[in-house]
This record gives sequence, structure tokens and C-alpha cells, in this order.
Amino acid sequence: MASKVVLTYGTFDLFHIGHLNLLRRLRALGDRLIVGVSTDEFNALKGKKTIIGFDDRIEIVRNLKCVDMAIPEDNWEQKVDDIRGHGVSIFGMGSDWEGRFDELKAHCEVVYLPRTEGVSSTQIKKTLQVLDRSHVQELKQALDLIASIVDRFE
Ligand code: CTP
Repeated sequence: MASKVVLTYGTFDLFHIGHLNLLRRLRALGDRLIVGVSTDEFNALKGKKTIIGFDDRIEIVRNLKCVDMAIPEDNWEQKVDDIRGHGVSIFGMGSDWEGRFDELKAHCEVVYLPRTEGVSSTQIKKTLQVLDRSHVQELKQALDLIASIVDRFE
């Protein structure tokens, strides 16, 4: 019997447990999992800027135990070609995309799996920004202290 191929797409910036949970669950639906990783140029089109560049993001995804193949995603139209070209039986995404790819039901089964609660690349970036701001604040305080010491010697 032909192997059941599952396909998904994503950016996978700052790879986290929500990404891993989703990919593992998708892989368990079939025999092979193919993951399309958004290129930096495609993300720019979508107004999205990653912290980790495309080469590293795809290398991380490609080396996961649950991933059989990683391919670049560089346009909105490639999904149907990828489904046909790779003999895909199931197209799957996290539930934040619920309903957004229903037109692909003409080509294969489409599933939306629940997201892992409480983690996202956007959330991690926000946390990093807060840390960055508090770091700047600490540096400013240290500089003020040095300036006040220097003042005493003037
Ligand atoms: N995903 C998930 N659970 C999370 C985060 C993401 O199941 N907590 C899924 C998404 O639904 C998507 C895939 O992982 O199918 C890749 O999502 P991506 O957009 O790269 O990750 P996010 O962390 O959601 O990134 P962002 O916050 O930038 O949208």
C-alpha cells in the first residue's frame, strides 16, 4: 500500500515546544511528514520578520525525528503543486488557521490540530523585547552612577 504523506507549512522561528507538538501529531497521522518552511523573502511579503534566518530554521526542522523532508515555502500558490507533486494525503495546520485552507479539500484531506496553549514565537519575541528594555534601563542606571562618581572628582 502507498505510504500516507502529510504536509504542513510554517515559519518555525525560535523553534519551540508548540512547533514540536504539532509536527509530532501531524507525523502520527501518516507515514511521512513534509514540512514547508517559509523563506525570509516570503515572510517579508507577509510583513513578518524572523529572528532566526531561513537556512537555520529549515535545518532545524529538517533534522527533527518526526520530519521526513523539509522544503522551502516561497509563495502562496505552491500548495496545490506540492500536494500533487509529493502525493500528499493529508494537509494539516494548527487551529489558528482553522478554515483558511478549506479549498485544498478538493485535493486531499485537510485537518486543523489544536495549538499548544501559552507559547508562540511572537510571545517569545515580546519577552525578549521586555528583557532588552530592562537591560537598557540597568545600563542607564550604571552609567548614571559612574557619572555621579566622576562628578565628585571634578
Ligand atoms: N503552532 C502550534 N502551537 C503553538 C504555536 C504554533 O500548534 N503554540 C503551530 C501553528 O498553528 C502552525 C505551526 O505551529 O501550524 C507553525 O506556526 P508558526 O506561525 O511558525 O509559529 P508561531 O509560534 O505561532 O509563530 P507566530 O507567533 O509568529 O505566529
